[in-house]
Amino acid sequence: MSPSMLNRIERLRIPARPLLLISIVAAGLSLIAVAHGESSSATGNSKQSTVQQKITKEKQPKQKRRPSAANSFNRLLKKPLAPSNAPPSEDGIHDPANAGTHHLQWPSEAFQDLPKSGDGNKVDWVKSLHEGLITPFVSLEEPETEPFIMDLVIVREVKGSMPDVVYPHKEHTEWLDCTNCHDEIFTPEKGKNQISMAAILLGRKCGICHGKVAFPVSDCRRCHSKPKTDEQLRALAKKSAWQGLTAGKAKQ
Ligand code: HEC
Ligand code: HEC
Ligand code: HEC
Repeated sequence: MSPSMLNRIERLRIPARPLLLISIVAAGLSLIAVAHGESSSATGNSKQSTVQQKITKEKQPKQKRRPSAANSFNRLLKKPLAPSNAPPSEDGIHDPANAGTHHLQWPSEAFQDLPKSGDGNKVDWVKSLHEGLITPFVSLEEPETEPFIMDLVIVREVKGSMPDVVYPHKEHTEWLDCTNCHDEIFTPEKGKNQISMAAILLGRKCGICHGKVAFPVSDCRRCHSKPKTDEQLRALAKKSAWQGLTAGKAKQ
C-alpha cells in the first residue's frame, strides 16, 4: 500500500460525522480485526516483505509450512480470526486484560433485535437504519445535524455473465459524507474511475470499506445486483460457442 493510500485511509477515518457511525457498525464486526492486522502488514513495501519471507524460510528450513487459502489477494474473503460477534474479551480487538473490556455490551446482545444478513457481523445495517431501529448521530459536535442524502444510482456494467454492479448513493450518504469518497477514492464522474474486482479484493476502491466497516466482499450479490437480460446472456452464449468453434478449427 502506498503512503498516499494510507493518507487517504487516515483522512477517511478522521471526520467526526461518519466515524461515529462507522465505529458503531464496526463494533461487533470481527472482520475488522482481520482488516486491521492486514492493513498494517500491507503497509510495508512488498519487496521488503518478500525478502523477509525468504529470510524466515531460510532460517527454519525443516519447519512444516501450513498451507493457507488466504493470500494478500483474497484476504478479504478469508474467515475472520474470531467467530462472528464474539464477546469483547474474545474478539481479538479488545484487550482482555483490561477490566473495562468486561463491562462492554456483547454484540450478540446488542444486535439480537436487528434485521439479519448472511455475512460479516450478520446484521443488515441498511435495513436497521431504514426501519428506525438505530438512529446514529451525524455529528458528535452538533447532534441536530441532518445527513446530506443524495439519491443517485450508478450502474457499472460488468463483462461476462456476472450481474452488473449497482452503486447507490442514497444508502451510502445516509451514513457517509461526500468527502469520504470524493475525490480521494472516486472522481465524481460516471465511468471515470477504473474499478476492478482485483482492486477491491486488495482493499482498494469499494474494498476500502467493504470487508472492513461495511458488508464483506463475499456477499457478491449485494453489489452485483442487476442480472443480465436474457438477450445479453444469449449473445454471450453465442459468442462463446463461436469462440469454441473457431478454436477447434485452429487446432486442426
Ligand atoms: C461511498 C462512496 C461515495 C460517497 C460517500 C459519495 N459518492 Fe458520489 N460517486 C461514487 C461512485 C463510486 C461514483 C461513480 C464513479 C464512476 O462511475 O466512475 C460516484 C459518482 C458521483 C457523481 C457523478 C455522477 C455522474 O452521473 O457522472 C457525482 C456528481 C457524485 N458522485 C456526487 C456525490 C455527492 C454530492 C456526494 C455526497 C452527497 C457523494 N457523491 C457521495 C461514490 C461515492
Ligand atoms: C467510504 C466507505 C465505503 C465505500 C468506499 C463504499 N461503500 Fe458501500 N457501503 C458502505 C457502508 C457504511 C454501507 C452500509 C453498511 C452496510 O451495509 O454494511 C454500504 C452499503 C453498500 C450497499 C448496500 C445497499 C443496500 O441497500 O443494502 C451496496 C450495494 C454497496 N455499499 C456497494 C458499494 C460499491 C459497489 C462500492 C464501490 C463502487 C462501495 N459500496 C464503496 C461504505 C462504503
Ligand atoms: C462491494 C461491492 C462488490 C462486491 C461485494 C463484489 N463485487 Fe465484483 N465488482 C464490483 C465492482 C465495482 C466491479 C467493477 C465493475 C466495473 O467494471 O466497473 C466488480 C467487478 C467484478 C467482475 C468483473 C471483472 C473484474 O475483475 O472487474 C467480476 C467477475 C466480479 N466482480 C465478481 C465478483 C464475485 C464473484 C464476488 C463475490 C465473491 C464479487 N464480485 C463481489 C463490486 C463488488
